Amino acid sequence: MSREPSIPAMGNAAPGEGSSPAVVEPARFRGIMGHYPTGVTVVTAVDRDGTPVGLTANSVTSVSLDPPLVLVCVSEKSSSLGAILANGAFAVNILGAGAAATAVRFAEEKRTDRFRNVTYTVKEGGGPVLDGAVAWMTCGLYRTFEAGDHVILVGKVNDGEAAGGDPLVFFLGRYENLTAAGEPFGSRHGGPVPATSEEQ
Ligand SMILES: Cc1cc2nc3c(=O)[nH]c(=O)nc-3n(C[C@H](O)[C@H](O)[C@H](O)COP(=O)(O)O)c2cc1C
Repeated sequence: MSREPSIPAMGNAAPGEGSSPAVVEPARFRGIMGHYPTGVTVVTAVDRDGTPVGLTANSVTSVSLDPPLVLVCVSEKSSSLGAILANGAFAVNILGAGAAATAVRFAEEKRTDRFRNVTYTVKEGGGPVLDGAVAWMTCGLYRTFEAGDHVILVGKVNDGEAAGGDPLVFFLGRYENLTAAGEPFGSRHGGPVPATSEEQ
């Protein structure tokens, strides 16, 4: 007889939590996760006084198609977190292959300097959308969850566009791109996933 898997109630500990005292140390965990290539985004919002805020983030994942939900994990130490929560909305900018400097800027520059000489449009119900982003989406804050030293922000996607172009990739602690020897990525790897795919 098959049984439906039980889903822990929202925010509750899953049954496995705490069952083993073993915890992998942060450096090893980072090394393991470094083998998982990701895209690179800049997550943005506007402060109460309209000042733009933004941080580089690669923890962005799609969550649900109906409604369309996306999540990003933001450090509880993030200086942008308060603005995102207060704004109740944020934008996710997916960076293009040539935008490593933008990723570095939004990870390392002083918060107040990050938008200097950057052209962007503030989208209602979201945050600043950076010119040149491969794709962007604006999200209303749908749920938040505390998880360790990060806060999981789940956004309901209300608008977005994919301009296209090769994305910036983060792998083994380095910025990479998908284009090698002048060959576009799609020609080496069978092209884009068909629109009918169930995979997210
Ligand atoms: C490639 C890359 C990905 C990152 N991803 C995240 C992330 O998903 N969440 C996060 O909180 N910080 C992430 N960071 C670190 C933040 O960008 C960095 O700590 C930034 O200074 C935070 O800015 P804030 O304190 O103004 O929010 C990432 C950094 C890099 C370089």
